[in-house]
Amino acid sequence: MASQNQVRSTGSGGAQSDPRAIISFHHVDLQYDDQKALADVTFAVANGEFVCLTGPSGAGKSSILRLIAMDAFPTKGQVIVRGMPASRMNRGRIPLLRREIGFVFQDFRLLEDRSVEDNVAFAQLVVGQPHRLIVQNVTRVLTQVGLYDKRHRLPRQLSGGEQQRVAIARAMVNSPKILLADEPTGNLDPATAQEIIDLLFRVNDAGTCVFFSTHDHEIVKTFGQRVLVIEGGRLRSDERRRAVDRRASLVDHMYRAPEGAAAPAARPARREPAHA
Ligand SMILES: Nc1ncnc2c1ncn2[C@@H]1O[C@H](COP(=O)(O)OP(=O)(O)OP(=O)(O)O)[C@@H](O)[C@H]1O
Ligand SMILES: [Mg+2]
Repeated sequence: MASQNQVRSTGSGGAQSDPRAIISFHHVDLQYDDQKALADVTFAVANGEFVCLTGPSGAGKSSILRLIAMDAFPTKGQVIVRGMPASRMNRGRIPLLRREIGFVFQDFRLLEDRSVEDNVAFAQLVVGQPHRLIVQNVTRVLTQVGLYDKRHRLPRQLSGGEQQRVAIARAMVNSPKILLADEPTGNLDPATAQEIIDLLFRVNDAGTCVFFSTHDHEIVKTFGQRVLVIEGGRLRSDERRRAVDRRASLVDHMYRAPEGAAAPAARPARREPAHA
C-alpha cells in the first residue's frame, strides 16, 4: 500500500504544497540550548507510508520524532503534521494532535508499578475514553501484540521484547493516524526484532503511517521501503524501494548462508491485518 501513495520529499515547496502529506518538514533547524541538533531538514511523508529513519547515534533521529509529536518545536522552518503547523500550535491544539499520534519511546517509558493492561489503559484514560470502550480496546490491542495472557504482569516481569510490545500496544490503542517508534528494535535479538517489525507492518497494513528510527543496517537493508538517512543533523538521503519483501526473514539475512548455498525459504504469509 505504502509504495502506491508516495509524495515528492525533497526540493523547495514539495513539503508544504503536497496535499497528501501527513507529515512535512520544510527547512527545519532545531537548536537545543547549546547544541544544534538539526539543520535544514526538508521531507514529506504521505498518508499510510512506512518510513525508516536511520543514522548514527547523535545524528538527530529522536529529535525528528520529537518534532513530529510536537514535543519539540523548530527553531527555524516549519513542521506540519496532519495539517497542523507547529508555528500555530497552542495548549488547546496539542492534545488534539496527540490523539492522532502513537509514540513508542526509545526507553519504553512504561509505568513500572502498573500492570500491562493498566499501562495500555492509561493512554485511553488520558483521552477521556469511556470505561466500557477502554476494556474493549485494551483487550483488542493486547491480543494483537500477543500479550493478553500476560495482562496482569508488571513490566519487570516481562522480557525486553515483551515490554516493547506493551509500548507498541499502548501507542496503538487510540487508533492513531501516525505511529512513531524510536529504535523499537534496539537491544533485541534478530528473531524478536523481526516480531516487532512484523507488528509495525500489520499496523501499517491497517492504514496507519509508521515512522520509525533504527541504526540497525540489516533492518534498513531488508525492510527499508522509504529510507531517510540523517547524519550530523542533516538529511543525507531520502530513498524509496518499490520491491520490499515484507515476508523476508531478518534472522535469515543476519545468518545468511555462504555464497552459492540455497537461498532460505520465505517465511509463511503473515496473518490478516491487525485492525481494519
Ligand atoms: N535535550 C537536549 N539538550 C541538548 N542537546 C540535546 C538534547 N537532546 C539531544 N541533544 C543533542 O542533539 C543531538 C541529536 O540528538 P538525538 O537524540 O536526536 O540523536 P539520535 O540520532 O536519536 O541518537 P541515538 O541513536 O543515540 O538515540 C545530539 O548531539 C544530542 O547530544
Ligand atoms: Mg535517539
